[in-house]
Amino acid sequence: MSDIDYARYDRIRPIRWTGDALELLDQRKLPFATEYLTCRNSDEVAAAIHALAVRGAPAIGIAAAWGVVLAAREIDASEPDQAAVQLEPALRRLNAARPTAVNLAWALARMRAALLRATGDWREALEAEARAIETEDLAANRHMGALGAALIPQGSGVLTHCNTGSLATAGFGTALGVIRAGVAQGRIDAVFAGETRPWLQGARLTVWELQQDGIDATLIADAAASHLMKAGKVQWVVVGADRICANGDVANKIGTYQLAIAARHHGVKFMVVAPSSTVDMATASGDLIEIEEREAGELHGVGGTRTVAEGIAAWNPVFDVTPHDLIDAIVTEKGVVERPDEERMRALFG
Ligand code: MRU
Repeated sequence: MSDIDYARYDRIRPIRWTGDALELLDQRKLPFATEYLTCRNSDEVAAAIHALAVRGAPAIGIAAAWGVVLAAREIDASEPDQAAVQLEPALRRLNAARPTAVNLAWALARMRAALLRATGDWREALEAEARAIETEDLAANRHMGALGAALIPQGSGVLTHCNTGSLATAGFGTALGVIRAGVAQGRIDAVFAGETRPWLQGARLTVWELQQDGIDATLIADAAASHLMKAGKVQWVVVGADRICANGDVANKIGTYQLAIAARHHGVKFMVVAPSSTVDMATASGDLIEIEEREAGELHGVGGTRTVAEGIAAWNPVFDVTPHDLIDAIVTEKGVVERPDEERMRALFG
């Protein structure tokens, strides 16, 4: 896509492999500190994924793949099948770090397969596979940026949710990649980002990330979304995904479902942008997705300061499922599925 200046629009890298360790841009500390957390073994990677030091479906998968590379350094095996048996406990601990984003299990399955087909040095084969997962993700995002932006008419306003940018991927982002491309092409005039309570991915990460690129974004309270749509300020809602089912149902950050309902009510279009590594054709519908629930403490305060009286119960599901019939387009690097349903999903993903 020649009209995108990637040097300007793609500068943040959340995951760095040093050759000895994995460095993760610690997203718990953003936007006021840009510190990398060093993981020297796979359990440190699993802990970083669980604690949201690294987050976002594709980034979780990439980090886990490098976690396998680290685990491989701690075992003593000469043959791939022997290594596969010894590595399995570490892979299971990585997989258990977060349940909803399918990219985690997908990346681990790719690492297992790469190991079993290795002919030479199996540790090198694992390292090459982790690098390939990362490189392919960046390429997919750039391609999706072009495909998704093409759906957005000149002069549009868009609303996004959570953080789906470079911070959540190998770089450029999924939904945020489409927004970057749409801004670069002059299609998008106004970008709105919801705060994304309780962890504030929108407030802490998305608007900061866009600011690094010189893209103006306006932060809104999540509760302001319907009012924004009614005011005619946005023509598309553009979000990412943690798992896309065979029938086109989409699991994404909590609050996505209510945005899709509000969008349909106001005649605003709804786009989901995700690489094919987020598509899970083995899960028939969204009812079958495990929704991660996190500690109630995330709702009891903001930035470490308690805002809720002691003794109050809180329920904290961190993802929800948007039914496919509320979605206008699913954009992947393999193509766009408009008005997704099982037949259209199968036509593209088999
Ligand atoms: O809990 P998080 O921050 O990992 O949730 C992230 C999201 O829900 C994103 O929208 C999704 O993973 C897509 S990221 C490209």
